Amino acid sequence: MTKILGISGSLRRDSYNSRLLEAAASLLPEGVEFEQYRGLKRVPPYDQDDDVEPPPRAVARLREALSAADGVLIATPEYNSSIPGVLKNALDWASRPLMTNALRFRPVAVCGASTGAFGAVWAQAELRKVLAAMGARVVEAEVPVGHAPNRFDEDGLLVDEEIREQLVALVEALLAGVAERRESMAPVAA
Ligand SMILES: Cc1cc2nc3c(=O)[nH]c(=O)nc-3n(C[C@H](O)[C@H](O)[C@H](O)COP(=O)(O)O)c2cc1C
Repeated sequence: MTKILGISGSLRRDSYNSRLLEAAASLLPEGVEFEQYRGLKRVPPYDQDDDVEPPPRAVARLREALSAADGVLIATPEYNSSIPGVLKNALDWASRPLMTNALRFRPVAVCGASTGAFGAVWAQAELRKVLAAMGARVVEAEVPVGHAPNRFDEDGLLVDEEIREQLVALVEALLAGVAERRESMAPVAA
């Protein structure tokens, strides 16, 4: 069983990024389990003095959720041309200890939605930079969803065919990354 953990960088109830994540989840093939991480708001502000064993409970849960996933899919809003502070804060916690952090070598795919024209492209670029610094395997494909209110219907369902196709490619790239990692970790036959 392959497990994908979804993280929306928005805490907002009707978040377009959370909807985007749900749309991507609905495109996953059979045999792939999807779980959306919902603990972002409970992660305390990063303080190196608190980054000890055992870590704060919310941090332990975050690290466990990441470690249990074969791949991670993050949908990020763009706040002032970057990623939201809550998302960066959670990634800072997740990045420690650096050499054994829960995202190291783990395949991660990035997408993003904004109400403006550019579809959170800067936020996605920033997120990829942060993830690369942590040692995650960031997949190449990306999905910039501009003018987000026009891409979803009243029930929050994705209605844009072109974006759906881009999401399919993103999900496929993520699963290919998962398969590649599995192969690289498989014991070599004698
Ligand atoms: C603090 C803040 C800063 C924002 N900065 C940007 C920005 O730099 N670029 C952009 O395209 N949209 C920006 N927006 C608009 C967001 O794209 C919009 O609020 C979007 O719906 C947020 O994603 P969500 O629907 O998942 O919550 C900003 C919104 C907020 C609240």
